[in-house]
Amino acid sequence: MPKLLICITGSIAAIKLPLLIHKLAKKDVACKVVISRDGLNFITPMAISTMGVNVYLDDNIDMNSYDQVMQHINLGKWADYILVCPASANSIAKLSSGYADNLLTATILASNAHKIIVPAMNKLMWKNSLTQENVSRLQHHGFTFWGPASGLQACGDNDIGRMIEVEEILEKIDNLISKEQNHQFAISNLSALFGRRVVITAGGTKEMIDPVRYISNHSSGKMAYALAQEAISLGAKVSLISASDLPPPAKSAIITVSNGADMLKAALDLAKNTDIFIGAAAVCDYTVAKYSPQKIKKSDEINLNLITIPDILKTIRTKYPDLFIVGFAAETNNLIQYARAKLINKQLNMIVANDVSNNKVFGQDTNQVTIINKDFTEFVSSKASKDIIAKFILQNISKEYFKK
Ligand code: C5P
Repeated sequence: MPKLLICITGSIAAIKLPLLIHKLAKKDVACKVVISRDGLNFITPMAISTMGVNVYLDDNIDMNSYDQVMQHINLGKWADYILVCPASANSIAKLSSGYADNLLTATILASNAHKIIVPAMNKLMWKNSLTQENVSRLQHHGFTFWGPASGLQACGDNDIGRMIEVEEILEKIDNLISKEQNHQFAISNLSALFGRRVVITAGGTKEMIDPVRYISNHSSGKMAYALAQEAISLGAKVSLISASDLPPPAKSAIITVSNGADMLKAALDLAKNTDIFIGAAAVCDYTVAKYSPQKIKKSDEINLNLITIPDILKTIRTKYPDLFIVGFAAETNNLIQYARAKLINKQLNMIVANDVSNNKVFGQDTNQVTIINKDFTEFVSSKASKDIIAKFILQNISKEYFKK
């Protein structure tokens, strides 16, 4: 849970703080409060502590309590965010000069937290060039400013200097925290693949009919190669089992295969030493029952006896029940329904569904996918380059892989 330290200084806007803290207490944020001596002129600690939020003051420090004497360090280290709210002109001046003459300023100086200042003062105090210099200085040192707003002031003036409204502060806190959490999530997702072994099958396999003719499909292998490239850049150790003619991405181990039988053999071999198996290949489903070693002579009609080849992902699942396996479903109709059926039938951890009707995907540089997880949760990407889609797929894989 994000930790927020609210520092209340001597400004009349402090009277709004109990309401702000009351509303924050209902959110997923841990709060503590420091009130400066001047802040105590406008608000009582009791109004806050009765909401179950700890309040810290300058007075009554027990000199024999190490924890209390070190309070500024403890609080500074505890906080993820420090919100100086309201921030008076005096506290802004002190902070901009690095003062540490009370618990509030000492805590802020001793903290690496993200610091936010919510100014509240008379218009002339705010506009004063000294205050403006102090603000610039703090901004230069990484402090964020929210406000001030314009409007009616306690003294009767109507101009800039008012504290922004409580609702606006709450909204900004929400945005800040969710942005940070998304960022953290992205970082943990990105690093999740670091050092993992990933096997990816790629391209459309070819089943030879005779020495010159074969059965295949339109798959180019571009999506699989984009996945390999992206996984490598995230620090994964990638092995490609490829039936594609594309040049392999640097730093990937590549095993070139042509038909389904060879792809299955390579897959079984690599699957025993891998963390994640991604079946992005469009495996040709049929092969001839009997290969003709001589070119079949042309005639008006030719009857090929076709048989299905073993399903690579199913075979791997049977052999490696705990392996994290991702399949693809390329469909021209009933996309989600068919993809779900494959997810179940092949016992996959995840399936990536794409609509391949009207030449939308094969050989193209763009794609649009729906990811379906084992629990049937779905994530739909927008239409984007295969590189971006690869990032989208790998982020989802990392997230699911750690849930496993
Ligand atoms: O059953 P279908 O071919 O539509 O399923 C597609 C998925 O199954 C893809 O992930 C593909 O790589 C994989 N597959 C396989 N072995 C096959 C056929 C498809 O692993 N023989």
